[in-house]
Amino acid sequence: MSKSKADIEKILSYDIILFMKGEDFMSFIKETEKYLQDVFKKCGYEIEEVTLESSSRRDLGEFQINSAMSLAKKYGKNPREIAQNIIDNFDDRFTNVNIAGPGFINVSINDEFLLKRMNESINDFDNLIDKYESKNILIDYGGANAAKSLHVGHMRSANIGEALKRLAKVLGNNVIGDVHLGDLGRQSGMVISEIKKRKPDLCYFDSNYKGKYPKLEITPEELAIYYPEASKDAKENPLRMEEVREITAKVDMCEEPYFSMWKDIVEVSSNEIRKTYDYLNCNFELWEGELSSLKYIDKTLKVLEPYMYESEGAKVIDVAKSDDKIEIPPLIVIKNDGASIYATRDLATIYNRMHSDFKPDELWYVVDARQGLYFEQVFRASYKSNLVSEDVKLKHYSFGTMNGKDGKPFKTRDGGVLQLNDLLSMIREELSKKMNKYEDGNEKNNILDKLTVATIKYADLLPYRTTDYVFDIEKFCSFEGKTGPYVLYTMVRIKSILDKVNINSEKIISIYSETERNIYLKLLELSRILNQAYTEKTLSYICEYLFEISSLFNKFYGETNIINESDNEKKDSYVSLLKLIYNTCSKLLNILAIEIPSKM
Ligand code: ARG
Repeated sequence: MSKSKADIEKILSYDIILFMKGEDFMSFIKETEKYLQDVFKKCGYEIEEVTLESSSRRDLGEFQINSAMSLAKKYGKNPREIAQNIIDNFDDRFTNVNIAGPGFINVSINDEFLLKRMNESINDFDNLIDKYESKNILIDYGGANAAKSLHVGHMRSANIGEALKRLAKVLGNNVIGDVHLGDLGRQSGMVISEIKKRKPDLCYFDSNYKGKYPKLEITPEELAIYYPEASKDAKENPLRMEEVREITAKVDMCEEPYFSMWKDIVEVSSNEIRKTYDYLNCNFELWEGELSSLKYIDKTLKVLEPYMYESEGAKVIDVAKSDDKIEIPPLIVIKNDGASIYATRDLATIYNRMHSDFKPDELWYVVDARQGLYFEQVFRASYKSNLVSEDVKLKHYSFGTMNGKDGKPFKTRDGGVLQLNDLLSMIREELSKKMNKYEDGNEKNNILDKLTVATIKYADLLPYRTTDYVFDIEKFCSFEGKTGPYVLYTMVRIKSILDKVNINSEKIISIYSETERNIYLKLLELSRILNQAYTEKTLSYICEYLFEISSLFNKFYGETNIINESDNEKKDSYVSLLKLIYNTCSKLLNILAIEIPSKM
């Protein structure tokens, strides 16, 4: 569900003000707003907050202050009179101060003020942003299923989750991520039944076997084919499906030798899954999952016991509320055969997280939208039973799907689910065609890997989190437009100029052109961009912003001969500007978990 504009404004005005950390780090905008509030106070007007709005009419001023209008009624004065009173008290940080219409104050920023902030930010990103009051946040994302391959939905969770984690950290929180592996479920029965079919003589399947069971030997290559094979057969063959069910139930009840076999399979599978996450620069602090939650189930059930009742043999918790707009069915906690299910393991995981040393203030689930109702049930059950206290936030941040050009979830040519590794190979191949100035080899591979990750991440993070988007490989891989390759190409270009001129300067001395000024003003906007991204939990704003900065730089590059500039002071200043852009964008790309190649 995407948020309405009004909703978003509401969150912005509350959350940001409540949680933004005060005095030590302050963006230019926030500092100026504080200053303005003081001026209003000094002139005798009590005002909760003053907003410095970016102006679309640059000829009138770079920023606008509209507060005089809202004060007019309260103080029974003409707003223009208030505005005049305010501007008479400004110090020299603004230029081009004027009052327009009923009482809008227009201002531009004094060069010296602007450059001071820019110079302080060349090597210090924190000077461009605002930090929040630090919270402990645990993010559950990734969610790959053991023994099955990762698909596109898992990729979205990984990309968005990792980036939100990095964003939350940059803004001052303590954040850790948990991959929460799907390592229990039907796939255990599938894989073990396939092993049984292929290697019936293994001791695990011999009911007369009395010895100690050895560790199961299985290769990643075997694993890759076992699940799909078994799944295909079980669909057509009811007897096979029955066997799969039986084995799954045994694993779920921790029955040996199946339970240990499954743990061995999960180990091999997690190593493979880890490689894909590594490729995508996703680093999980925790590798927990459904399997590791089993040891907390008893304790969890004790907490839940007073709220559970029996329904058709199963144990359930009512989670409906009287003002629900849609029916929220009771949450099944234990199945009628006494086995745990997905929900039981999520509740046990929550139990463990709440009792961990990390003590989260917030738990975020970056999981696809189809699990929305499920998480609502789990969250309600958690609060109702006091598994989680009311002051801890449980949030499901879902995302839209990646569709094909027909508007339906993207499928392979033969109609199957697109595997993540296949998607990555497709992108890599497309990019490889454009990189033919490089000979095949390590260097090319390295560049292509980084470019592939950048391409898919940028394309995946650019749409608003909750909207669906269309997979368009040509568009994603283009070196022009809002794409990963365009942004990276710009960064590589900046880096190569910096390497070429090799000048130590770190001071911007003056503003020589309109485009430069626009770059600085854009950099001032960064604090708002990050706040908006964080409040709405979408990386789209950061992607758009990177595109805008890149375009501004490329305009500047087209207008300016940096390398051959004969005025040394000017050249030094340009170099410093380039460093400022490069350093700032590197940090932003790092939030998106995108790495910049050394060449392109
Ligand atoms: N393994 C799940 C799936 O593929 C996602 C897990 C999401 N996290 C959670 N705590 N339930 O659908």
